[in-house]
Amino acid sequence: MSGPTKTVLVTGAARGIGQAIANRFADGGWNVVAADIDEAAVTEAAAAMAGNVRPQALDVKQAGSIAEAISATVEAFGRLDGLVNNAGIMDRAPFLDMTEAFWHHVLDTNLTSTFLAAQAAARQMVAQGGGGRIVNVASNSGVFGGRGRAAYGASKAGIINLTQTMAIELAEHDILVNAVAPGPTKTGDHIPDEPWPTVKARMPLARFGRPEEIANVAYFLASEDCSFTTGHVWCADGGYTIAGIMEG
Ligand SMILES: NC(=O)c1ccc[n+]([C@@H]2O[C@H](COP(=O)([O-])OP(=O)(O)OC[C@H]3O[C@@H](n4cnc5c(N)ncnc54)[C@H](O)[C@@H]3O)[C@@H](O)[C@H]2O)c1
Repeated sequence: MSGPTKTVLVTGAARGIGQAIANRFADGGWNVVAADIDEAAVTEAAAAMAGNVRPQALDVKQAGSIAEAISATVEAFGRLDGLVNNAGIMDRAPFLDMTEAFWHHVLDTNLTSTFLAAQAAARQMVAQGGGGRIVNVASNSGVFGGRGRAAYGASKAGIINLTQTMAIELAEHDILVNAVAPGPTKTGDHIPDEPWPTVKARMPLARFGRPEEIANVAYFLASEDCSFTTGHVWCADGGYTIAGIMEG
């Protein structure tokens, strides 16, 4: 990685975890392109961030829209040093009722988008030289099964394997690829204050994460301080995925 001020593109940055990630990079002095399908919301969110933050309309389901966002980033700031693939939908449906259209919608929005954006970003990073960082937002649901999450969980498990494979293939270009896998995170007032009792009982820290706590991990994984870690999946989840016996 090189250049005095680094530039990152964050997808799904209008609200929730993506907004916190964009904010964290802005605080860290990066140039930030905050991209979202909800252009009005991301414009408002970007305006509230301190630093060099540029809003960008982006539909991660469309390869053309991703190409435009990367071109706009390079036009505005000269290069692209980091990509955070955060945009995603958490739609759930019972397995027996799940339609093929539903399956494709979730897989396209969460997994195919991650492939498309990472490939486009990596091509730009390779062309400009100097390495780079890609951070993918996975989920606890990509690590273990969960009710209603056949499509969502598969999309997030796919992101984990894609992260590992990209880490291998992009290492020769000094592009490090890692993932953060959040656990239940309180992204707004529509989320209750406490996780479901059955979830809480299996979680050593026994509370929701805050978007900023996920953002701090994503920021570290994109930073110079993260220089010998690639293909790693960092579970930022209060210990939910490591917990076994919780009493005795
Ligand atoms: N909140 C949690 O508990 C949790 C847990 C694990 C993983 N995650 C993951 O974290 C990421 C962010 O989740 P969140 O809770 O902040 O969600 P959110 O719904 O609050 O925000 C998601 C953002 O992505 C945008 N988006 C949706 N489809 C898009 C598209 N096609 N193109 C561009 N932008 C699009 C939305 O407009 C929205 O601003 C997701 O990938 C999600 O799967 C969240």
